[in-house]
Amino acid sequence: MRQARYLPGQSCESLHPLSKIIPLADVDSALVEALLDTAFEPERRQRTAYTVRGDAEWLPALSFAALDAADLLAGTIQCWPVALTDDHGRAHPLLMVGPVAVLPALQGLGYGQALVTATLSAIDPRAPLPQVLIGDPAYYGRFFGFANTHTGGWRLPGPVDQHRVLCRAANPSILPASGALGPWRR
Ligand SMILES: CC(C)(COP(=O)(O)OP(=O)(O)OC[C@H]1O[C@@H](n2cnc3c(N)ncnc32)[C@H](O)[C@@H]1OP(=O)(O)O)[C@@H](O)C(=O)NCCC(=O)NCCS
Repeated sequence: MRQARYLPGQSCESLHPLSKIIPLADVDSALVEALLDTAFEPERRQRTAYTVRGDAEWLPALSFAALDAADLLAGTIQCWPVALTDDHGRAHPLLMVGPVAVLPALQGLGYGQALVTATLSAIDPRAPLPQVLIGDPAYYGRFFGFANTHTGGWRLPGPVDQHRVLCRAANPSILPASGALGPWRR
């Protein structure tokens, strides 16, 4: 099975050596939904992140699952195409990362870091799109360099704690300071 690559320097030493990262497409979608229901509250589908993504499909090349040492599903990550539409109506493509979810009993063992690292290291380095997510700056900033420094003027289609809107980009200053996040429309 295809293994995800890890970025040099971003180790996941605490992960059990028999654990695996595999493409999410290789996992039964009912199992993925059940895991998300366990990791999040049942109303998860009303979250603003779902509205941002709209009816887009997650991107198979950037979405992964973690299996524990017994090959049971431990966690998942999905990644979606979204747009930041500036105040002149121009859509800037972004990758929306998440949800990232680890079974409660397996949290704190390195699965979350392994999953996010798998997605970030699978992004084509020749043309890396900036990444956006809604999450804890303490976690995503500390391990992956996401920050809310450039997102204060980004509007979302629903309630959100603005400080949890995080971006990671080689040069975030090329992104609009003001704009609306929403689904990518071709
Ligand atoms: C957030 C989540 C994905 C992290 O995955 P995980 O496998 O538990 O975390 P890891 O083992 O990779 O990392 C553990 C480290 O991150 C820290 N950490 C975990 N969640 C954190 C958070 N929300 N804020 C700050 N630090 C956090 C832990 O304290 C630990 O630090 P330490 O190594 O210094 O002890 C997981 O806890 C989860 O599924 N939570 C519920 C769903 C959720 O909130 N998802 C994120 C929003 S999309």
